[in-house]
Amino acid sequence: MLKTITNYDISTLNSLKLSSTAKYYTILDDYAQLENIQQELINHKKFFVLGGGSNIIVPEVYDGLIIHNQLKGIEIIDDGEYYLVTAKAGEIWDDFIAYCGNNGAYGLENLSLIPGTVGASPVQNIGAYGVEVKDFITQIEVYDLNDTQIKYLTNLECNFSYRNSILKSLPNFLVLSVTFRLPKISPMNCNYGDIKSKLEIIMNPSAQDLRNCIIETRNSKLPSPEVIGNAGSFFHNPIIDTTFANALKEQYPNLPCYPMLQAQYTKVSAGWLIDNLGLKGFRQGNFGTYDKQALVIVNHGNGTQSELLDFASFIVNQVKQTYNIELNIEPIIL
Ligand code: EPU
Repeated sequence: MLKTITNYDISTLNSLKLSSTAKYYTILDDYAQLENIQQELINHKKFFVLGGGSNIIVPEVYDGLIIHNQLKGIEIIDDGEYYLVTAKAGEIWDDFIAYCGNNGAYGLENLSLIPGTVGASPVQNIGAYGVEVKDFITQIEVYDLNDTQIKYLTNLECNFSYRNSILKSLPNFLVLSVTFRLPKISPMNCNYGDIKSKLEIIMNPSAQDLRNCIIETRNSKLPSPEVIGNAGSFFHNPIIDTTFANALKEQYPNLPCYPMLQAQYTKVSAGWLIDNLGLKGFRQGNFGTYDKQALVIVNHGNGTQSELLDFASFIVNQVKQTYNIELNIEPIIL
């Protein structure tokens, strides 16, 4: 049975630590509850499936039902040179990576310490240090709230791209579990700037060394939501026309540019654009950019959604005026 609570404080369930109350809140921790969900939804204006809350911007009052996905469990199948590892959506992402490593299933090390749950990882195709989660996902099990059927999406069907997937546009698909195909021999993706130089000093680094290095790098640059409210990168790195990027690069020779598979587009560093405006560590009221990474917005106090969006608009306008680039907000606005 689903148990719904009214006026539930979700300020600690979103990593930005925004003050927020959900009019209705329920926990999903058993497949048997799925049959009740649709009936429950009839009573509500809207709903949102919450995972770790690390990529959302919640309003002061959410006038709908929050379904907190806490399905747990991990299964591992030996598949020759690989393991097929299926984790339920509510598993904590970094605990899941540790579990895989302890069982000899590698590849996800670069995504260590990203806050959130396994179920949220494909939604925005989380990525860090040269790896995206899409590189390892084979199947996603979803519950279609429209027709109450369990369905399976292949990697291709997910339509993954930079910080995006089909799941973003299909809120009726509730992620139940994700299956990863992980090699028994670590692919050791260590080509990302900082990581490469740090690992070079270790002889024959192991997957655990890589994971440690990623954890250390993240801790040195990114604020822990346990310490200060934040949602990681607040904006996407903009993808712009390569001709425009080349022109910008002439004006700003230090601007980090990343080639895309389609050569006509180039990704540029939003953090650098903001930093170059002198806005790293800039604060207005409760919100500010982080003093070690301008792409991260931190909540210094008990800020609200509207204050945060005002602060973000200020940054967006400054970037637009100076570089004629439109920044897009990465977390989902509820
Ligand atoms: N930079 C600056 N100033 C800043 C921030 C960055 O000059 O304030 C420069 C850095 O020196 C570097 C470049 O910009 O040359 C890129 O910076 P960084 O390596 O920190 O990565 P990023 O592009 O800012 C992306 C992801 C992060 C991910 C890192 C590492 C996005 C939106 N963000 O950030 O993901 O951890 O790469 O792979 O793609 C997240 O999505 O929440 C997230 C933290």
